[in-house]
Amino acid sequence: MIITSLGNSKDIAKKLAKKLKCKYSETTVSSFPDGDLYLKFNTNLKKKKLVIVQSFQPHSDMSLFDIIFAANTAKELGAKKVILVAPYLAYMRQDKRFNTGECISSRIMAKLLNESVDKLITIDPHIHRYKSLKDIFTIPTKMLTANLLIADYIQKKFKNEIIIGPDGESYQWAECIAKHIHVDATVLKKTRFSSRHVHVKMINPIPIKDKNVIIVDDIISTGHTIAEAAKQARKMGAKSVSAIGVHGLFVENGMEKLKKAGVNKIITTNCIEHPTNKIDITPLLLAELKKEKK
Ligand code: R5P
Repeated sequence: MIITSLGNSKDIAKKLAKKLKCKYSETTVSSFPDGDLYLKFNTNLKKKKLVIVQSFQPHSDMSLFDIIFAANTAKELGAKKVILVAPYLAYMRQDKRFNTGECISSRIMAKLLNESVDKLITIDPHIHRYKSLKDIFTIPTKMLTANLLIADYIQKKFKNEIIIGPDGESYQWAECIAKHIHVDATVLKKTRFSSRHVHVKMINPIPIKDKNVIIVDDIISTGHTIAEAAKQARKMGAKSVSAIGVHGLFVENGMEKLKKAGVNKIITTNCIEHPTNKIDITPLLLAELKKEKK
């Protein structure tokens, strides 16, 4: 088995190779002067299983493109199986045609991967209207969750805490983690007016005054969702407000937005490499890839 990365998740890829005692080979990914993608494997792939470790950030579009080119090239070069480990799988939020004429990006992304890779392993993909990844993927998929790692982190680092999920979909993370560590949790109701304008409301209030509030969500993108939840928590007398995201994208000054809204600590997993990474998801992937190595 050979492990490579196409640039986005190098640290995880190298750690996995070391722990699995298999070769890590850097793939050259660059572009020609006109912008066309240039990609070159630097190892012999004949009859080998190739694991591509690549989160879809930064630049979800280029990340996807790199994966498609790499997987197809690997097959041409004789790889017997191409496994994509995408700790963060982008495009999952566009899971219906919200407005006439829109592209359902998740379906197209899945179609391209179905045609190019043999298996997909991912962590906490944004499953909302789909029941499972099987709704869009025909290749074998494995969906892992960082919930227990996050729960352990909270247990070690916080006291007198309560957990808030900033919207209905976040129950999968917020409520599950809260149950695991036996603390109170509530999920807010979010109304999204646009990509950059959301409103959240607490429907099932829980005592917040003087508590250390932890807002847990799968994705922190622009930060608007968590910022709105943080403002509510502050208004209700929270002692401190922290934000934990599985996937920290922090686009459009997301970090500053959160700090302005009164978030004291921002914590993410290393599904996407970022200075806020405090929770290492490598053990989840390791367990899964060990099965592939047999
Ligand atoms: C969507 O429902 C997700 O779970 C996140 O709440 C959302 O993607 C966060 O986006 P933003 O940070 O841009 O508000």
